[in-house]
Amino acid sequence: MRRKLAAGNWKMNGERSTLGMLEALARAHSGGAVDIMICPPFTLIDAAAALSDAALITIGGQDCHSESAGAHTGDISADMLRAAGAGAVILGHSERRADHGETSDDVRAKARAAHEAGLIAIICVGESLAEREAQNTLDIIGGQLSSSVPDTATGENTVIAYEPCWAIGTGLTPTTDQIGEVHDFIRTRIERRFGAGVGRSVRLLYGGSVKGANAAEIFAVSNVDGALVGGASLSVDDFSPIISAL
Ligand code: G3H
Repeated sequence: MRRKLAAGNWKMNGERSTLGMLEALARAHSGGAVDIMICPPFTLIDAAAALSDAALITIGGQDCHSESAGAHTGDISADMLRAAGAGAVILGHSERRADHGETSDDVRAKARAAHEAGLIAIICVGESLAEREAQNTLDIIGGQLSSSVPDTATGENTVIAYEPCWAIGTGLTPTTDQIGEVHDFIRTRIERRFGAGVGRSVRLLYGGSVKGANAAEIFAVSNVDGALVGGASLSVDDFSPIISAL
């Protein structure tokens, strides 16, 4: 049985005062019925980890380097994230692929490093609008999956997030049929590569304009195990209804 997961990606947002919402979230969802994760900017990770009860809210990074240390100015290693109190890291987000030229090979190397450091790797895949309109969505997702997910993946250390680039921060979402088609496809691909045990235990998140108002219908789609939430994860009022919908 896969545990549901609500993961918040704060992107380049949030300050120390925003961390106050961790305690409010923990109070509101203290039953532990679903997993909650918050991925703040690097500068807030240690403070977030100190504030959050790790059993209730996992703290994650938004990227890491594929090597554990060295001459890589501006980068952070998976071991450093772990030492700062993180339990997870988002990898291959489309904003990193677009803004920093990250390839799926880069993502796979980073995910392997995350696994070696004991972090959950949340590996993002998703098509552009042009790719969807050209009816290439499943080819694109299949290629990203095979190149971005390392052989070290297990149900415990890997989460796949399907985020159509055109749905991120736009208020647009795919239809539930479109989400279901991609999630079923990802599940089948992972089962075929890793076997039924791992394939059935890897959690699949949907991401892109998830709000309290659309969360329940998205979570009702087959093989959707939760959400990777951007803008709506920055306040308790917006994030809490999404968690409650799981
Ligand atoms: O990582 C989160 C996604 O990019 C979704 O962002 O919920 O603001 O559309 P959004």
